[in-house]
Amino acid sequence: MTSVFQQRSLLSTKDYSKEELIYLIEFSEHLKEMKKRGIPHRYLDGKNIALLFEKTSTRTRAAFTVAALDLGAHPEFLGKDDIQLGKKESVRDTALVLGSMFDGIEFRGFKQSVVEDLAKYAGVPVWNGLTDKEHPTQMLADYMTVKEEFGKLEGLKLVYCGTGRNNVANSLLITGAILGVNVTIATPEELFPTEEIQVIAREFAKKSGSVIEVTSDVKAAVKGANVIYTNVWAAMGEEGQFEERVKLLNPYQVNKELLQYVGNDDYILLHCLPAFHNTDTIIGMEMYQKFGVAEMEMTDEVFYSKNARQFQQAENRMHTIKAIMAATLGDLFIPRV
Ligand code: CP
Repeated sequence: MTSVFQQRSLLSTKDYSKEELIYLIEFSEHLKEMKKRGIPHRYLDGKNIALLFEKTSTRTRAAFTVAALDLGAHPEFLGKDDIQLGKKESVRDTALVLGSMFDGIEFRGFKQSVVEDLAKYAGVPVWNGLTDKEHPTQMLADYMTVKEEFGKLEGLKLVYCGTGRNNVANSLLITGAILGVNVTIATPEELFPTEEIQVIAREFAKKSGSVIEVTSDVKAAVKGANVIYTNVWAAMGEEGQFEERVKLLNPYQVNKELLQYVGNDDYILLHCLPAFHNTDTIIGMEMYQKFGVAEMEMTDEVFYSKNARQFQQAENRMHTIKAIMAATLGDLFIPRV
């Protein structure tokens, strides 16, 4: 009997059961402990991993690279200007070639259909490192961080404030619904998640008992939250929309005033990063000069407050990516979960 995870891709968390996601989170906790204790865990010894990046990345690239090395594999970075993908060679042909040489492929890019086609034709596990639609490896780290903090997931309330129509909001909604976490998306009506995403989440919620809510009333939404989550107001590829988003999303900024509406002091703050919380970046300064906003989705005060967990969350990207690579590609005996 082989592992239930063997040779599977991770394109969306919706392809994994609640039990499987919890297994991966707990396996990540185990791998984190092994790393801290210096215990070797070379479950991918001799394997070769392709890291395809159409978009820039700090956390995802670093996490896949370090995780692959810790597992004994060789990671090979293939950036958008390094290979022919989609320009001179179809996704199908690229998948057939890379799948004949590499044992696993990570893809970060724009279209969900590209990562799906890579998985269809490569014949090796493909892991979605972010598309415009979903960010599944981020979810493992996010919910791992929540579990580390609260010791459980079921019944907790996670409120996402900001742009409700993007990959992170989509994936939080779907994954929370699978895991039994109550997820509220607080966003202007113009940015409500698509009907398709809401329907998927509500179907999973029926099974897990989680409560899914989408609202424009951010102050009411945060009441009783255990987790407040936010994200950039304009994602990669949406930079032209900053002016409109700044006006629209200003009331959804995570700041001290909004956090008073939570009604407890035990909540944690998450952000997938990078964040615009001051003018210490080129874009942050540019936004300040153009629109007069020095802080966007989160204030600097809140970003560095005692409730903030975004750097623990960022570290967990590595442990969770390691878990998904080891479980799907390593010779591990996981007969059932
Ligand atoms: N959160 C996240 O995906 O970070 P990077 O864009 O740096 O990979």
